[in-house]
Amino acid sequence: MNGEADTEALLAVSDLVVKYRSPRSLFHLAAADIHAVNGVSLDIAAGQTLGLVGESGSGKSSTGNTILGIVRAESGSVRFDGVELTTLEGKYPKAIRRDIQAVFQDPASSLNPSMVIADILGEPLDIHERLGKAARLAACEELLELVGLSREHLERKPHEFSGGQRQRIAIARALALRPRLLILDEPVSALDVSTQSQVINLLEELQERLGLTYLLIAHDLAVVHHASDRIAVMYLGSIVEEGPAEELYAEPAHPYTQALLAAVPVANPVRQRERRSGGRMSTGEIPSPLNLPSGCPYRTRCPHAHDACVNDHPPMIDLGNDRQVACVLYTGDSKEIIG
Ligand SMILES: Nc1ncnc2c1ncn2[C@@H]1O[C@H](COP(=O)(O)OP(=O)(O)OP(=O)(O)O)[C@@H](O)[C@H]1O
Ligand code: SF4
Ligand SMILES: [Mg+2]
Repeated sequence: MNGEADTEALLAVSDLVVKYRSPRSLFHLAAADIHAVNGVSLDIAAGQTLGLVGESGSGKSSTGNTILGIVRAESGSVRFDGVELTTLEGKYPKAIRRDIQAVFQDPASSLNPSMVIADILGEPLDIHERLGKAARLAACEELLELVGLSREHLERKPHEFSGGQRQRIAIARALALRPRLLILDEPVSALDVSTQSQVINLLEELQERLGLTYLLIAHDLAVVHHASDRIAVMYLGSIVEEGPAEELYAEPAHPYTQALLAAVPVANPVRQRERRSGGRMSTGEIPSPLNLPSGCPYRTRCPHAHDACVNDHPPMIDLGNDRQVACVLYTGDSKEIIG
């Protein structure tokens, strides 16, 4: 990635497949497979951010949770710093659990409401490092200050903070063990717009200071494109396009990425018109992951769908400039970006 073909990425996911079993119900008498992730490959170089974007149900969290070891891969590979994670039995070893931490959309899920902040931040330290009382307190104070909160907050409980402050505390807790990779699963989706940009700025500052690597999951391309070095766009379990953030945002290649961007409101009406004329909104419903379409996963909603899209899953095509797209429109001699 980024022309560093011979250095292994810190995180390398390849051909990842994740399935869940749908329970039997009154009308579905047999259990069926939910195809949540269907052959995803992505790399993140150390110190970089990959934005993973797509609509609800596209498989973003399933991908993140498999990297975290919360969900098991059906097949494929997840390598972290050269170590294959999918074949590890049970919980990850302590060293890997330290190195890969997560921040989720809803801090309520990671912040125990009955605990004071000192214990919320101190808990991972108690499990992994046996610090004395004074060293533990100093570590908690340092963590709070790192995320822009005052040490006076240590004796308070989560409900005494705003949503943005609670997310700062969740970030501080994730940083307690000095991880190398953070899985940020919609970390700002529940916040109002101005708080979103403050938390994204904080994440960028922390990345710079601490040399962190991020997988930044979001619905909204507009939220993540500034903070991401690269972006991967996911649809119905597949990556449909991947490339440098600015280029992909300015000139989306895949019809689905174009539709995603056409749906994003932009402040400048001229830009909005330009975008709308380029990207046509998706029509119809997203198909069920219980019953994936044959061929291109996007073909049931794509305004450009034709016979060549029906049988085979389109391969990833190299567009040059470090960009790739999975769409048959780019398989011919002309690789100009459509729009
Ligand atoms: N534990 C589970 N059991 C059964 N199905 C699941 C489970 N978790 C996710 N799914 C299904 O797998 C598919 C992918 O879900 P996933 O949560 O990975 O998508 P997502 O892109 O993170 O969506 P969102 O943006 O809503 O968070 C969806 O159809 C979802 O309903
Ligand atoms: S492969 Fe076909 S259906 Fe899929 S995005 Fe390209 S044109 Fe549309
Ligand atoms: Mg999710």
